[in-house]
Order: sequence, then structure tokens, then C-alpha cells
Amino acid sequence: MKPTQTDIDAVCDLVNELCGIYLDNSKDYLIEGRLSKLVTKAGCANYADFARKVRLDARLKTEVVDAITTNETLWFRDSTPFDALRFKILPELIDAKSGSLFPKKFRIWSAACSTGQEAYSIAMAFADVVPDFEKWDLQIYGTDISPAAVAAAQRGVYNDMEVNRGLDQRYRGAYFVKSAGGWAVNDVLKRRCRFEVRNLLKPFTNVGSFDVIFCRNVAIYFTPPDRKSLFLRLGQTLNRGGWLFTGSGESLMDLGPSWAPKQHCRAVCYQPNGCNGVATLQRSGN
Ligand SMILES: C[S@@+](CC[C@H](N)C(=O)[O-])C[C@H]1O[C@@H](n2cnc3c(N)ncnc32)[C@H](O)[C@@H]1O
Repeated sequence: MKPTQTDIDAVCDLVNELCGIYLDNSKDYLIEGRLSKLVTKAGCANYADFARKVRLDARLKTEVVDAITTNETLWFRDSTPFDALRFKILPELIDAKSGSLFPKKFRIWSAACSTGQEAYSIAMAFADVVPDFEKWDLQIYGTDISPAAVAAAQRGVYNDMEVNRGLDQRYRGAYFVKSAGGWAVNDVLKRRCRFEVRNLLKPFTNVGSFDVIFCRNVAIYFTPPDRKSLFLRLGQTLNRGGWLFTGSGESLMDLGPSWAPKQHCRAVCYQPNGCNGVATLQRSGN
């Protein structure tokens, strides 16, 4: 079913309201490709009627969010942020925390984690760095607006094609077991990762604070004011001395001097709250 201009306007408003994703007129093919089946299934004559119906139906809202979001992801995506984690950021944070009340506690947020590959990759990179991984209190918090993506992350089972996208055989051997649906993440990693549905454009209630945040390849879908507000709020949840990674090509230079990019291992990252060892130690019990 081809959307008319009225349909496109109605769907763009709906999608922006549900998940902050900004679609413009040029996205008529995307609206048709991702929503036409849902429109027919809901018994609606057109997309504008469908948009009205969705606003009154929580289950339909979920279906629209799952259908319209782009969940493209892979293991160790872009590789350089994970090198920066292994060789610069984690060793320095480990040093800064030594002697503190909770020297082995690390909280890392994979914000817009899609189906979980980013969160599990962070856990594997962490295990590369520390001896006795099991003895560290590593908490990885993965969130995404798509309930289907979060359910897949929680399941942690990937088919042959998914498991081969960016995952070295060495990691597959160490952290995955062959299962009915493909390859299942083992308990060593799973215990470290907790996944939840969360809209990044809503207030961050009860998230706590983090040593590192990955928020990659999601803000590109938002309007400039939503993007700005997102990164300012993420900055407020970072421990002092903590680090933020954005997607490759997602520069934050327009957000002001505290967002000056830093480069480590060819990855660009940000430290909006500066580096103050004492404050890091005080807040690391959060
Ligand atoms: C392209 S994936 C990026 C996944 C991962 N961060 C990476 O870089 O590989 C974008 C993800 O953002 C999620 N997303 C879109 N809008 C969101 C919102 N308002 N709040 C939270 N997640 C959102 C989508 O569901 C999707 O899984």
C-alpha cells in the first residue's frame, strides 16, 4: 500500500512521538516497507487511520516501534572503541579505582544496544584486560526502545550469520555454546549483562551512574534538539572521569568545549566531566 502525503505526515508524527525518530518525506519507501503489513493486519484503510488507531493501542505501539527501528549491529562494531577500552580506558579506570571502596566495580551502559552484540562485546573486551574476570563486579546495562531487540539481547542466542559478523573464532570458542537456535552466549558473559526496554528521550530515572557509556548509531535518527538533550543527560550519568563513545562520524563538537573529542587507539571518545580521580572514587560505589 503506497502512502499518500497525508499518510506520510501522520506516520512521521506518530513515529516521532513514539520513539523520537525523525522521518522526513523522503522516507515514504521505509514507511511502506516496514508498516504496510501492520496497516493491513490492523484492518485500516490507510496509514493515517492506522496512526490514529495506534495511539489508542499499547500493543500496536510496540509493533510499530519494533517495525520502524533499524536494529543493525554487529560484534565489536568499528573495532577501535574496543581497542580504546582495552588499552587506555579500562587500565586507567582500574588504576583510578584501586584503593577505593569498590575497586572492582564497573558500570557500563550500552544505550541503544539493539540485539545485545555491543553489550556482550564490551564484556569480552573487559575480560581481555583483567585477570580472574569472575572476581570483578562488572555490570553492563543494555537498553533499547525496541522490545523485540531487548528480548533477543536477553535470549543471547545468535544464528550462524549473526555470530559470524565481527566475532573472532577465539571469542566464539571461549564464550558461546552451540544451541538449538544457533550460538548461545554463555553464563560468564550473561551474568554481567542486564537488558531493559528504555526510551533514551525519556528522563533517566533510576539508571545510576556509569564509568563508560556507549551510545552509538542512534542519535543520527533524532532531531538536533533531541540529540543535544540526549548527550547532555548522558553526560550527567557519567562518573567524573568517565568516558562516552558515540558512533563513528557522530561528532559532538557542536555541544561546546567540554565535549572536545579525544582520540585513543584511533577511536574518538568524550570525557565531558573531565578527569578527577577523587570524585571518581567517591562516586564509584553508586
Ligand atoms: C543502528 S542500532 C545501533 C545498535 C548499536 N548501538 C550499534 O552501534 O551497533 C540503533 C538502535 O537504536 C534503537 N533506538 C531508536 N530510537 C531509540 C530511542 N528513542 N531510545 C532507545 N533506543 C532507540 C533502535 O531500536 C536500534 O536498536
